[in-house]
Amino acid sequence: MRDAAPQTVYLKDYKPFGYDIDSVQLDFDLSPHATRVKSRIAFRPKPTSDRRFFLHGEQLKLIAARIDGAPVTPQVNAQGLMCDVPDGPFIWEAEVEIDPANNTALEGLYMSGGMYCTQCEAEGFRKITYYPDRPDVMSVFTVRINGPHPVLLSNGNPVSQADGVAEWHDPWPKPAYLFALVAGDLVAHADEFTTKSGRKVDLNLYVRPGDEGKCAFGMQALKDSMKWDEAVYGREYDLDIFNIVAVDDFNMGAMENKGLNVFNSSAVLASPETSTDMNFQRVEAIIAHEYFHNWTGNRITCRDWFQLCLKEGLTVYRDSQFTSDMRSAAVKRIGDVIDLRARQFAEDQGPLSHPVRPESFQEINNFYTATVYEKGSEVIGMLRRLVGAQAYAEALDLYFERHDGQACTIEDWLKVFEDTTGRDLGQFKRWYSQAGTPRIKVEDNWNSNTYTLTFTQHLKPSATTPDPKPQVIPIVTGLLAPSGQEVVASRVLELTEAQQSFTFEGLTERPVPSVLRGFSAPVILENKRAQEHAAFLLAHDTDPFNRWEAGRELARDSLLAMIRSGAAPDLGYLDGLAKVLSDTTLDPAYRALMLALPGQTDIATALHDVGETPDPDAIWSAHETMIEAQATHFAELLPALFAQNQVREAYRPNAAQSGQRSLANAVLRLLCLNDGPDRAQAQFDTADNMTQQLAALAVLLRANAGKDALQSFETQWKSDRLVMDKWFGLQVMQAAPADVAETAQALTQHPDFNWKNPNRFRAVFGSLAAHHAGLNSADGAGYKLLADWLIKLDPVNPQTTARMCAAFQTWRRYDAERQALCATQLDRILAVPDLSRDTSEMLERIRG
Ligand code: PHE
Ligand code: ZN
Repeated sequence: MRDAAPQTVYLKDYKPFGYDIDSVQLDFDLSPHATRVKSRIAFRPKPTSDRRFFLHGEQLKLIAARIDGAPVTPQVNAQGLMCDVPDGPFIWEAEVEIDPANNTALEGLYMSGGMYCTQCEAEGFRKITYYPDRPDVMSVFTVRINGPHPVLLSNGNPVSQADGVAEWHDPWPKPAYLFALVAGDLVAHADEFTTKSGRKVDLNLYVRPGDEGKCAFGMQALKDSMKWDEAVYGREYDLDIFNIVAVDDFNMGAMENKGLNVFNSSAVLASPETSTDMNFQRVEAIIAHEYFHNWTGNRITCRDWFQLCLKEGLTVYRDSQFTSDMRSAAVKRIGDVIDLRARQFAEDQGPLSHPVRPESFQEINNFYTATVYEKGSEVIGMLRRLVGAQAYAEALDLYFERHDGQACTIEDWLKVFEDTTGRDLGQFKRWYSQAGTPRIKVEDNWNSNTYTLTFTQHLKPSATTPDPKPQVIPIVTGLLAPSGQEVVASRVLELTEAQQSFTFEGLTERPVPSVLRGFSAPVILENKRAQEHAAFLLAHDTDPFNRWEAGRELARDSLLAMIRSGAAPDLGYLDGLAKVLSDTTLDPAYRALMLALPGQTDIATALHDVGETPDPDAIWSAHETMIEAQATHFAELLPALFAQNQVREAYRPNAAQSGQRSLANAVLRLLCLNDGPDRAQAQFDTADNMTQQLAALAVLLRANAGKDALQSFETQWKSDRLVMDKWFGLQVMQAAPADVAETAQALTQHPDFNWKNPNRFRAVFGSLAAHHAGLNSADGAGYKLLADWLIKLDPVNPQTTARMCAAFQTWRRYDAERQALCATQLDRILAVPDLSRDTSEMLERIRG
């Protein structure tokens, strides 16, 4: 069936559904190509609303429909059905047939490695049965599953379990997007948790046989999350059982279905031998994220999909607080900012820019973006900074009390803050409605012991925000004396005007300002501060974020000078960094972050920002030269640094050990430049954990000395899907720019390149997209290869295809030749007949 012409949906057109649903009963007869779904839904008309009876339904074969027991013949089209219904309450029954085994889009009910599972957010439930598939329609579900599988799961609490049939009941009203069903030959890693009021909860992590050894860490993360949410937000779990299932074929990271979270196996399975420290951190964060959704998302959900940030921004914010508490807050913050700049700022700078709460869309799946998630979380961080931690906690208590069981809007969310604090958040709300990254300029003045900081803010007009207005920007600022001593501790300066000054009295000498500490707002700080100034902050700032930022700025400026005028690497930067590296009072993880350079995409963004055309090859070379300069400049330091950061105890993925490994592995790369690959080979040969093994392999590949290691890695890990994803990805990531497309192309010929599996597809093409100089190689081979495969994937899996299209979002900033090459590929994809709605929307926005 063809998609109908794409339609744009607008926030302003929101209308409530005309009926309430008292209960939903679903009955599944599982069969790979002909699953039967019977539904029994009790509708009750609302007194006032529009009573048009439309149920969503896509790719369903309608077998029968009845109202109050009598057969009816609804009018069916590709989007759903309409039917004449009684004036009063009635029971709707339908039977449909679906084909999960052919569902390669992985939305609705589908099969993965022999198991059945579902993915309903955002609009996948309509591929399971006819239903008002919108988040403001909430109801209580009872689900019966018939199938010859040892494990049959759905939401809520188990009612009965027998051979080949199980019944589940979820007492909490929920929207259809939180529905889930899983059936298969799975094994459980079981545990339990007792909530603070004494409810005993059974916890299970269901995996494929063979993966039992990769469950312990995820389970511990779940228990930590449950405890944390009780301690910090006062939120208790609300069912007798909490199940997590690992699935190999999944479009995203994970999904917060009520009581039955479904996870991409890469986001939950972990063991020291097969997972890196980064993998462990990601698993912990995603487990927490999905668990936290139980309150922020499930108990309180979204009225419509324009409000997506209501649950996602808040839940990302909560999981970042959790990670900061579990690990190092400074390291977490720096990592988040690196990610925000790389993904969200890039989005804001290009054709995909949209507000945190968009006002229109064609395909909602295209709006699970860095702006909604990460900027959405930043907005909450600002709110907390502005009102203070105490008022934030009170507002959240009010939010849970007032809106439990409801489908809410951003207006509801802001109102609890207004009611708690008495503040007018009208201006603050612009953070939700205006697209783009505000730019801040700061100037300072010193006059008879009065120090003045003057800020200006500017937001570039855009299609969605043609007439931008000033926003409320919390700028956390401290002042340092020239001796390096802090003379004014961090305070929040509230910038509300287009231009505004703040004065500091009683100082005896002109201070050095440290502004936007902790990255207190998602803005671009444009002040061109003097080189010495950054070097001073790198040496003295008490704010760990800004200290890192100062080093980052020096690195960036040096790279820019190298690119623009062939300058040599800045010795001031290298000297400052050497001091930081040898300062053993600093956390090794923090030092590793200091040593890392701004990404090549970030450098391209910085050039584009000031109206210059980035040259990907020049950026690549500058990076290489700078890394060589680091190796030479730190030559004396490196062997000791490497030795001091070898972990002697048994592997644990905690913050302390992973920090040491990240520093040692960054150093390993530099050592290899100085001394050749022997040390890396030795680490590869003796590693007892994936972090060490993979880091060594990366260094060897970089040094063109990885052929044997690559081969032995493959032999060792052939049967481990998640490790093989790393094997595929690493080769692309570590290839020289001119070889990237060829390497990726060759990997697609590998017998284990199962391109229909999103993780495997992303291993190769996500790595290609992330390789700045490789994707943008001057011959256009990167663009062409990616386009070939997006065309191939689109009919199979539109969601993953559309998400990968974002790789092209920056194409207009390059030179005319590259633009022409890229345009050819974009047009070639757009010309494909029957291109999915997801992909067409993305490419039309990108192509412009
Ligand atoms: N709601 C999921 C999360 O953020 C993400 C998701 C969206 C997963 C859509 C699948 C489909 O936790
Ligand atoms: Zn989420």
